[in-house]
Amino acid sequence: MSGKGARRLGDIDLRDHATALTLPPALDGPFPAGFVWGTATSSFQIEGGRAGRGDSIWDRFCEQAGTIVDGSNGDVACGHVEHAGSDIRMMSALGMGAYRFSIAWPRIIPGGRGDPAPAGLDFYDRLVDGLLATGIEPYVTLYHWDLPQELEEHGGWPERATAYRFAEYAEVIASHLGDRVKHWATLNEPYCSAHFGYGTGTMAPGRRDSAAEFAAAHHLLLGHGLAVDRIRDRVPDAEVGIVLNFAPAHPASTDAADIAAAAIEHARFNRWFVEPLAGVGYPIDDTGDVRWSGAEIHDGDLDIIATPIDVLGVNYYTRSLVAAGPDPVAPRVPVTAMGWEIYPQGLSEILRWLDDHFSFPRFLITENGAAMADVPDGDGYVDDRDRIEYLRAHLAEVHRLIGEGIPVAGYFAWSFLDNFEWAHGYTQRFGLVRVDYDTLRRTPKASAGWYSEVIRANRLPWA
Ligand code: FCB
Repeated sequence: MSGKGARRLGDIDLRDHATALTLPPALDGPFPAGFVWGTATSSFQIEGGRAGRGDSIWDRFCEQAGTIVDGSNGDVACGHVEHAGSDIRMMSALGMGAYRFSIAWPRIIPGGRGDPAPAGLDFYDRLVDGLLATGIEPYVTLYHWDLPQELEEHGGWPERATAYRFAEYAEVIASHLGDRVKHWATLNEPYCSAHFGYGTGTMAPGRRDSAAEFAAAHHLLLGHGLAVDRIRDRVPDAEVGIVLNFAPAHPASTDAADIAAAAIEHARFNRWFVEPLAGVGYPIDDTGDVRWSGAEIHDGDLDIIATPIDVLGVNYYTRSLVAAGPDPVAPRVPVTAMGWEIYPQGLSEILRWLDDHFSFPRFLITENGAAMADVPDGDGYVDDRDRIEYLRAHLAEVHRLIGEGIPVAGYFAWSFLDNFEWAHGYTQRFGLVRVDYDTLRRTPKASAGWYSEVIRANRLPWA
């Protein structure tokens, strides 16, 4: 990148907006020493390299007409499989301390069970070694929605056996990478896998069956609990956790029916996964008309699910406004390009609730960020002050929470790169770094430079 006011950061140029931005009032004091600063991605959304792996449910879902708004798929995505080396160099130049990425199960065990594929293991070996060589701590997520298609053909997550396949896969990865990777998350957002994958059918594998949704949710958590044990067995000094998504569920009005509907949404979205993990069981009586019989719970399952974890990963984007009627409630403004309300205080509401009600040793903000209507200039550079403002407002909440004594140990911006945003295809850009999908060229946005300065100073805004 070239242009007026550019300055160099490692081997990349960043334009200097320090003087152009209206700086918010300085927050009082730095983030704690050792606070983890990183970005996050997921395998299907960035890797491409389809020839080097088995099919996942997302490959199959993308092939169905009408599932992905721009008719796209993950065959190439950001070409990260080929560009991993330069992606790591860019992260390093930006001063990232950590990188959260996921492993594609079908790249390791193409059919979902059996022997691992050496080429798949080799790719993640090189990724992990490259990160460590530049001082970036790898944070591995084992499952970010890309189930091997063959396992779906055997019933997918509604089938109990899938939980055991997941534990086997976790063991393979832990045995292989555990000498170098110390930060592990089992699942990303099991709510989305279960609800959108098997309930509403708006995500892969696209099934619409509320009984299957409940069964999937339970087997995802069972797989998590089994995997925690396998990881600890192979990597005794591992920090192990799971990543859940949360959104405060607020009633759209003071109407009693809306208040009741918001409580149901809170049970189904926020409480459903965290309560069994915390050992208090499912909020089975609080989900309104759509009820689960609990038939899939076998003796001992709830203990496995409640295996203590070291860290809870929290993904936060927005809140939900809930009304009793069938129609969705329009979000309040301001909104991002996804139409998601920008509601930073919701992050604090969620963390305070988690801290009050449960006793997780610590939290990581494993995803937070915004899709914006990015407009690149002729060099591909995006002056995304709106994204900076989103990040700043949410990081201010994180800083405040730490001040209140809530143990938030790190923050991962979603996302390092623009990428395949699931059913939205490539139409929504969350990256700190722009990807030109024709050339795969990467160009750091203003937000990348801003975030880099926050990391360097370990405070908001930079000094
Ligand atoms: C989260 C997903 C992540 C990305 C962001 C925008 O729900 O974990 O993959 O799609 O939303």
